[in-house]
Amino acid sequence: MGGPQAGWTAATVRAVAHARAYDQLPYDDRPVAETHPDRLWVVARANGLVLPEPSRLRVLELGCANAVNLIPMAFHLPEAQFLGVDIAPSQVSRANARVAELGLQNLTVVCADVMEFEPGEDTYDLIIAHGLFSWIPDAARDRVLALCRRALAPHGIAYISYNAMPAWGIRQAIGRALQEMARGASSDEERLARVRSGLARLAKV
Ligand SMILES: C[S@@+](CC[C@H](N)C(=O)[O-])C[C@H]1O[C@@H](n2cnc3c(N)ncnc32)[C@H](O)[C@@H]1O
Repeated sequence: MGGPQAGWTAATVRAVAHARAYDQLPYDDRPVAETHPDRLWVVARANGLVLPEPSRLRVLELGCANAVNLIPMAFHLPEAQFLGVDIAPSQVSRANARVAELGLQNLTVVCADVMEFEPGEDTYDLIIAHGLFSWIPDAARDRVLALCRRALAPHGIAYISYNAMPAWGIRQAIGRALQEMARGASSDEERLARVRSGLARLAKV
């Protein structure tokens, strides 16, 4: 992924910068248990929605990173179908290497910006977007909601996490302090180093 190309819109430049950031500092978190089909199936049933059995659900995850959430689901529910979408090429490569290593036939991970991802005629019983909505531009948020509207099966469930006040205010304050510490850094590596030493200083206060 090189520098900005002629003809790129401002939104494309932002999306590519975003993808590059996650390529340089891959997001390597753990599965989100509350998005598991077993749990969301119960939530659906408790709200009067009848989904197919969890073992046969069709699941789409937007912003799936290296598919650390989808891989265990696909492993344990071999008859369910899973599709992950993420904008960062290196995250998707890592996901696909793991999928191949495990021989998972029911999980596909594609590299795409949600702004451009087209689900075609496919519909999903569950659409998951965890750790995405609060970090993307308004247009991309609108697109996530439009994808849910278009691609959710009847009675399907969309799980969209977002940062909510007042609890988010605590993390937001720390985030602002760290952004100040990183201001003026010339590379992501330097930014990270400054933030780490800033956190270490804060931890001693
Ligand atoms: C904070 S991480 C969250 C990863 C994972 N869902 C989790 O909760 O652990 C955000 C992920 O969304 C992806 N992402 C950000 N903007 C995107 C976009 N416009 N289209 C697709 N993926 C995007 C990033 O590459 C990154 O992997």
